Amino acid sequence: MKTEENPYIPKSATVVAVKNESLETKTLRLRLYNWRAQFQPGQFVQLLLPGVGEAPFCIASSPSDQKHMDLTIIRRGLVTIASHYMRPGDVVGIRGPFGRPFPISRMVGKDLLIVGTGIGIAALRSLILFVAEHREEFGEVDLLYGARFPEDLVYRDEMKPWAEKMNVKVTLSKASPEWGGLRGRVTDHLGGVVRGGEQVAVLCGSPMVMHSISAELLKRGLKADQVFVSLERHMKCGIGKCARCLIPGGWHVCRDGPVFSLDEISLEAIGE
Ligand SMILES: Cc1cc2nc3c(=O)[nH]c(=O)nc-3n(C[C@H](O)[C@H](O)[C@H](O)COP(=O)(O)OP(=O)(O)OC[C@H]3O[C@@H](n4cnc5c(N)ncnc54)[C@H](O)[C@@H]3O)c2cc1C
Ligand code: FES
Repeated sequence: MKTEENPYIPKSATVVAVKNESLETKTLRLRLYNWRAQFQPGQFVQLLLPGVGEAPFCIASSPSDQKHMDLTIIRRGLVTIASHYMRPGDVVGIRGPFGRPFPISRMVGKDLLIVGTGIGIAALRSLILFVAEHREEFGEVDLLYGARFPEDLVYRDEMKPWAEKMNVKVTLSKASPEWGGLRGRVTDHLGGVVRGGEQVAVLCGSPMVMHSISAELLKRGLKADQVFVSLERHMKCGIGKCARCLIPGGWHVCRDGPVFSLDEISLEAIGE
């Protein structure tokens, strides 16, 4: 087997920029020297930090830039905290891209609803950038992004350019008095963005939130095969071999997902 075909062997990348998105979240921009990032929105990579460990992250950059890769990372434990100490020039390992992406061919020509909460917006940024670059191929595009506090918001400087390409709504469930945008949970604002017809919805957020958004979208008339969720589960191999990421129905999230339509998995499998 050639080295580049072995999914267990990491390829190297260099950190070229680190952006502070919020108190707990940073975006690492990686430059890939001897390989190209050929991926589709929704796919993920395993980030390997030498001497620390590895963890999965969705690719947050546009697939049109094959020389770079952005990973937006919230502090959680060993790998994620260590990633926040990375500086330009540091070398990291990348395995992947892995997983089943968002079904772009199902979305072309249709209205699109993108719903992200918390760090879930990171899994959607690649799709948002792709849609912005190919805007004429889609119908009405709505982006609904929810966070708790104003200081939790990421991609703040990108919301304005995105709003030139799509309808952007940002809502905070714990807004400060000065907050001039929407208030409440994303489920409070679905009424204005569910357009019915053949609209396709894609979601990423915490399991419980995705569960309630999914249930609400079905209640509002979207069919199960029109709603796609990007799931996160603990992972090890990333390629369907170790069964660490098995969910009800016998799906491996790493290989069969992380993107699933609601007619493939139950609402209970989302909320676990
Ligand atoms: C397909 C996929 C895509 C992901 N994309 C992103 C992303 O774009 N940005 C981002 O910040 N995070 C993302 N995550 C979550 C990220 O992988 C975990 O936060 C990371 O693995 C934690 O590793 P750690 O070594 O820092 O924490 P650890 O030291 O391993 O654990 C710290 C705590 O986090 C919990 N934890 C670990 N992994 C997960 C997980 N997968 N889900 C829920 N809790 C977990 C542990 O149980 C523990 O309580 C993604 C996960 C998956 C499976
Ligand atoms: S992480 Fe090993 S099977 Fe999915």
